[in-house]
Amino acid sequence: MSLFRTKTIEASMAAADEPDHHLKRRLTALDLVVFGVGVVIGAGIFTVTGRAAQQYAGPAVILSFILAAVVCAFAAMCYAEFASTVPVSGSAYTFSYATLGEFIAWVIGWDLILELMLGASVVAQGWSAYVEILLGRFGIEIPAAVAPGSHFDLGAFVLVAVLALLVAKGIKESLRVNLVLVAIKVFIVLFVIVAGAGFVNSANWTPFIPPSAPNAPGAEGIHAPVLQVLTGMTPATYGVMGIMSAAALVFFAYIGFDVVATTAEEARDPQRALPIGILGSLAICTVLYVAVALVITGMVPFDQIDTQGALAAAFEQVGQDGYATLIAAGAVAGLTTVVMTLIIGTTRVVFAMSRDRLLPAGLGVTSQRTGTPVRLTFLVGAVIALVASLTPVGRLEEMVNIGTLTAFVLVSLAVPILRKRRPDLKRGFVVPWNPVLPWLSAALCVYLILNLSIETWLRFLVWMVAGVVIYFTYSRSHSLLATGEREAGLAETPQILDVD
Ligand code: ALA
Repeated sequence: MSLFRTKTIEASMAAADEPDHHLKRRLTALDLVVFGVGVVIGAGIFTVTGRAAQQYAGPAVILSFILAAVVCAFAAMCYAEFASTVPVSGSAYTFSYATLGEFIAWVIGWDLILELMLGASVVAQGWSAYVEILLGRFGIEIPAAVAPGSHFDLGAFVLVAVLALLVAKGIKESLRVNLVLVAIKVFIVLFVIVAGAGFVNSANWTPFIPPSAPNAPGAEGIHAPVLQVLTGMTPATYGVMGIMSAAALVFFAYIGFDVVATTAEEARDPQRALPIGILGSLAICTVLYVAVALVITGMVPFDQIDTQGALAAAFEQVGQDGYATLIAAGAVAGLTTVVMTLIIGTTRVVFAMSRDRLLPAGLGVTSQRTGTPVRLTFLVGAVIALVASLTPVGRLEEMVNIGTLTAFVLVSLAVPILRKRRPDLKRGFVVPWNPVLPWLSAALCVYLILNLSIETWLRFLVWMVAGVVIYFTYSRSHSLLATGEREAGLAETPQILDVD
C-alpha cells in the first residue's frame, strides 16, 4: 500500500548525521525553554485574550486558558516522546513520515503550512495593532485607509515584507538576540501582572461566568460553534459553552511549543532536553497567561475589554497612559520575533517536503550566496504579507487552531502506533499510561475542534481537499520514495538557531 509507505527512521536519522549536513548539537535544555517561550508568547496573550473575554467567556476566560493548557499538556507529552525518539528536524511531518506513512505525513505537512503561515499573519496583525496604539500615544495617527482592521493593514504588510527579506538574506535567529527579545516580552507580561494587580477591582469578576446569551448578531448561523449546532442548541455565547468556545480560541496562545521539537537535531542531549524544553515552556506560559487573564478581567469590566490591544488598552482604561506606552512598545518588540520564527518555520516545512519531492524540488533550491532557500522565502513572505494585510482581524486564529489541533490529533494517535511497531527505539521521554493518555489527548483536541465555528470547518475542509488533490495528482508520483532517485543538489535543512 503505497499510501502508507514510510521513510525509515534510520534513513531520516542517517540523513541528519551525514558529515556535510550535520547540524551542530549545541542547544541545552535551557536554550530550548527560552526558544519555546520566545515562540509561544505572542499575539495570543497580547490580543486574542481581549476578544475571548469580551465576546465569549467574560472573566471565566481564565478557565478557558486552563482548559486549553490541559489539552496542550497532553499533546506536549506526545510531542516530547516523538521528538525524543526521532530526533531529526522537521517536527510532526518527519515523525509521521517515519511512522504513519506518506499520506498522513503529507496531510500533517500541508496542515503545518497552514498553521505556520496563518499564524504568522495573525501575529503580524497583532503587531500592527500595538504599533497603532504606540504611535497613538505619541499623537501620530495611522491613516484610516491603511490602519489595522481596515481593508489594507499596511503595518502588517511592511513587517512581513521586511522580515522575509531578512530571512532570505540568511539572517539566523541568533540565540542572543532572541534571548533579549524574550526577556523584554516576559518582562512586559510580568509588568502587566504586577502593575495591573494594583488596579484590580474585584467587582469586575462578578459574575465570573456571565449568564449564557444568544450569539451576537452576525455570530449566528455559519459562525456558530459546530458542537452547539450538532447538539441542537440555540447558538449561545458566555455561560459554560462560551468558556469552551473561548478555550478553542485562546488555544492559539499556546501554539509554538511544538516548534521546539523542530530543533531536535540541534539539541545536545535531545532525549532529555526536548521534553524539558517542550513541557517547560508550556508550563511557564500557562502560569503567565492565567495571571494576565486574571488581572485584565479584574481591571476592566469584561464587556469593555479591548478586542485588539487588550493589555495596553486596559492600562489606558484605568488612566495609566505611561504604562500603556511601555506595554505597547514591549509588545511591538516581542511580537516581531514570533512572526520571524513562524516565517522560518513555514519555509522549513515546505523545504522538507520538497526535499522528499512531495512538493516541487525547485522550491527547496538554496542560493549559493546566502545558503537559504531564497525563492521559497520570497514566495512564503509574499503570501503571508498579503494574507496578513487583506484579511479582516479575528478571522484567521480559528483556522490556525483547527490546523494545529488536527496535527496534534494525528501526532497523539501516532504514539501508540510507533510503540507497537518500533518497541526497540530508544525513547528519552515516555508518555505515561500509553495508550490511554495519547487517546485522551486526541479526544481533547477533537473536543476543542468541535467548539470552532462551522465557517472554520468549511474553510479548513477546502484547504485539506486542495491538499489531497495535490497529493494524488502530483506528490504521490514524484515522491522520492516512489521514484527512488537520489537527491540532486538540495542542501539539508538550514540550522534554525545560531548559538554564537
Ligand atoms: N502562540 C503564538 C502567539 O500567541 C502563536 O502568538
